[in-house]
Amino acid sequence: MGTTEAAPSHEPDVHYDRVHEAWRLILGSEFHYGYFVPSGIPLVDATAALTEQMLQRAGITPGARVLDVGCGTGHQSCQLASEHGAEVLGITTSGTGVAAATELAASRGLATARFEQRDGTANGLPDASFDVVWALESSHLMRDRKGLLSESARVLVPGGRFVLCDIIRRREIPFLEVRERRDEFALLRSVYGDAHMLPLDDYAAMLTEVGMEVDDLTDISDETLPTFAAWRANCEEHADEITRLIGADGLDEYVRSTHVLEAFWNDRTLGYGILRATKPA
Ligand SMILES: C[S@@+](CC[C@H](N)C(=O)[O-])C[C@H]1O[C@@H](n2cnc3c(N)ncnc32)[C@H](O)[C@@H]1O
Repeated sequence: MGTTEAAPSHEPDVHYDRVHEAWRLILGSEFHYGYFVPSGIPLVDATAALTEQMLQRAGITPGARVLDVGCGTGHQSCQLASEHGAEVLGITTSGTGVAAATELAASRGLATARFEQRDGTANGLPDASFDVVWALESSHLMRDRKGLLSESARVLVPGGRFVLCDIIRRREIPFLEVRERRDEFALLRSVYGDAHMLPLDDYAAMLTEVGMEVDDLTDISDETLPTFAAWRANCEEHADEITRLIGADGLDEYVRSTHVLEAFWNDRTLGYGILRATKPA
């Protein structure tokens, strides 16, 4: 690397700006895992099915004020506004994400989905101003997890619901094993940024600490496992375009990362969870 070349950043906003376009081709318009029920469905249906799992728990009614924390490209915020009549504020630390999401809402003529660049762990929004806080696969990028959960509880009205799904850690990883598998962890960090996975029970404990009542905690690791094969298929199908965006090394790293994650899923190191908590009325 030359002296004038900046080191690649692992800060979430810089990282997301860099890979945004390539990820659209690999992950699809929804930047998250798929829920493959029934098994064998295409990725686009599986990512929609994961969103549906969140919707079932969120119970969004027309006019509900929804905060979408880590809104990605705004796909779900727009869906919540257009299909469920919600008034959505999507927040993300990525400037590119805010621009793409704002453009998407404008192209659909949606005045009820707005987007702002804010940090979910210190959102600066007024107390008790949302009926639902929605965090779809964004929490693993927030080192201050307690900040995310306490801020989410703070901005909810009494009786409001918090729904979250994300990658989870399913067992303790001994220090020696971390050392032995350091290349695998380094690869994941290079591809996905500075991610920190926690057990589902830790989320429950922290939510209880901030005064929320946890009423659902579900492990959906098996249902999300086929995601990796689907991402690899997209890498193959769009190899030329992805190479143009992130280089041959970027593409190769991405494909290798899917194998690492798949192995972590299979040996029950990592997996996927979904939860709902309610703010007492
Ligand atoms: C994997 S994407 C998920 C996007 C979207 N929820 C979806 O499922 O399509 C993670 C999102 O979290 C955002 N993010 C990361 N750290 C954040 C933070 N501290 N506050 C708000 N958003 C954050 C990223 O910019 C990105 O938009």
